[in-house]
This record gives sequence, C-alpha cells and structure tokens, in this order.
Amino acid sequence: MSQLVTLHEFIMARQADFPFASGELSRLLSDIAVASKMVSMDVRRAGLVDHILGAEGNTNVQGEEQQKLDVVADNHFINLFKAGGEVCGIASEENDDYLPFKSQKSRDGKYVVLFDPLDGSSNIDVNVSIGTIFSVYRRKSKTGEEANLQDMLQAGHEQVAAGYVVYGSSTMLVYTTGRGVNGFTLDPLIGEFCLSHPDMKMPENGRIYAINEGNINICNPGLKKYVQTYCQQTREGASRPYSGRYIGSLVADFHRTLIKGGIYVYPSTTTDPEGKLRLLYECNPIAFIAEQAGGLATTGVERVMEIQPERLHQRIPFYVGSKTMMKQAMACLEKDGPESI
Ligand code: AHG
Ligand code: MN
Ligand code: MN
Repeated sequence: MSQLVTLHEFIMARQADFPFASGELSRLLSDIAVASKMVSMDVRRAGLVDHILGAEGNTNVQGEEQQKLDVVADNHFINLFKAGGEVCGIASEENDDYLPFKSQKSRDGKYVVLFDPLDGSSNIDVNVSIGTIFSVYRRKSKTGEEANLQDMLQAGHEQVAAGYVVYGSSTMLVYTTGRGVNGFTLDPLIGEFCLSHPDMKMPENGRIYAINEGNINICNPGLKKYVQTYCQQTREGASRPYSGRYIGSLVADFHRTLIKGGIYVYPSTTTDPEGKLRLLYECNPIAFIAEQAGGLATTGVERVMEIQPERLHQRIPFYVGSKTMMKQAMACLEKDGPESI
C-alpha cells in the first residue's frame, strides 16, 4: 500500500518550502478543511434532517432564494474563521456586505477570504453534486485595524490560495497556492482528506462542452457558432461530435473539466448582459486553479484574473477549460461576434 498523506501533513510539508512562513496560511487552509467536513456531513444528511433541506425563506442580495444549506454552510465557515484568528474579514455570496471581524485576534489576522459557501444550490433538493469555492488574499489594510472594502476588491492575480470542495459521490477538496494543484478525497472512515490527485493537470484538449443550452439563442453569435461548428458537428478524425454535459453546479462542471478536459461557458445573455457567475468568489478561484493546472480562464475578451473588481457581487461572463478548446472558442468570438462586455 502506498503511503497515506493527509491534507494536514501535505500543508505542513509545503509550509517548509517557504522559510519565512509563520504558519497562518497553513492554519487557515486547515480551518477551511474542517468547515468543509462539517458541510459534507450536513450534505450527507440533507434528506433526513429538517433544518437542512429546503428553502430558508429569505432572498440574498442577488435576489436568489436562499436554501437552508446555503446559510448553514456560510455559518460553518464564518465560525471557523472567527475562531481561527488568521482572517480579518470575509465576503460571501450569502452576505450583502463584507464582514470585518471585530475581535483583536481577528483584526491581527493577515488574510481575507471570499467564498461561495454552497455552490449549485438548485441541486441540493435533487441529490446532485454541489460544492464550496474559496479565494484567499493577503489584506491591504494595516494589521490590527478592521478589514475594509479594498481588502476584498483585489484582482484575481493577487490570490495567495484558492480552491473548491465538491460534495459528490465522494467529497473532494482541490486547492492551489500558486505551485500547482492538488486534490484530496475525504476518507469518511478516518474523517481526513487524503492526497488522491497529486499535481493535477487539465488535458490540453477535450471532447466535452458544458453550457446551459437553454440560453443558446440569447447569447452572442460567436459562441453560438463555436457550439454549432466545433461541438455539435463530427470533425475530422472523430467518430461523433463532442458530448454535452451540464450539471448546473459550477464546481462539479469544473471538476469534470479539470480531470477530463473540456470547456465550460456561462456567457452574457440578452437577459443577463453581465452573465451569472460572480467574479470574486466563483470565477477568480476557479480561474486560478484552471491556470495552475495548465488551462485558461477568460471573459471571452480578457483574462479573468486581470480584472480589477468594482463590486463585491460583480458578475462576469465566464469561459474556462482546456487550452486548445478555449483558443478555438475565443477565435470564434473574435470572428463571429464578441462577448458584450
Ligand atoms: P449558486 O448556487 O452558488 O448561486 O451558483 C449557481 C451557479 C453555478 O453553480 C451554476 O453553474 C449556475 O449557477 C447554473 O445556472 P443556470 O441554472 O442558469 O444554468
Ligand atoms: Mn455558486
Ligand atoms: Mn452559492
């Protein structure tokens, strides 16, 4: 049997690569792992426990109905971050505004975390994969002070760590600190994330496209052309067109794209010109992982991680996937009708 490496051991071993590291980021990543184990337990019991399944009765700042699990997950992460002291404030999908933590211990924390506690909420009630997405930045404000909005509105290329957890047929945590991507599967018998996918690389090309095709007639002509000519026709050397796969949970759709190769698109549409996905806690962390694994992530016009954010819940059109497919899609946008932003 090959040697078992737990997430904790892996994080500690990596910390030794940074001679001046104080261990705060390591502790922060461990807190994220603990919170996601709590969410994972809740997800596994969602059909059995009344306070977990169904709608919360509120809508969030984006006008979306909050599910109970959205709120439960949000609280797990916030509580862990508050207790840990490495984080001076957070922003999440479920909170209208960012939350600066008030205790002196938290105000001394070096980091902010932006996260989507529960991604794919519409899949909760139907027992389909959902996830958590997170993005970590070093604060811009002075240590000891309260976190401010500028700490939250940093461009993606400034991320120090990012990752996601997919609550699928198993629970997996995938993260990067800018030195490659590693994946860990939760072993429910010992309650530990164990290294199962070291040094993940996205295949350079793929044969799967993921888009909500209900939107195909209200998206830009370049994307429609790409889907029709590249994805839905049999091309030279292939026996059939590409396969369409769309789960409707970004985390799960991206996880498949990372492992098998492919392209995922949530474009701007005539009804939602900015697209649907949120820059700070959905697109940036996924873009960081995609690039670290050898893939590309753009708005159809520019690299996602170059965008200077203006608002916490800002949305952007999002294209992510294998290099070759991304280049073909971008070329169609250039030629046949660009993204509208
Ligand atoms: P969330 O549940 O965090 O609000 O995110 C839902 C997002 C994303 O996970 C998914 O890819 C997309 O919404 C699906 O949207 P459509 O149903 O419009 O395709
Ligand atoms: Mn989401
Ligand atoms: Mn969400």
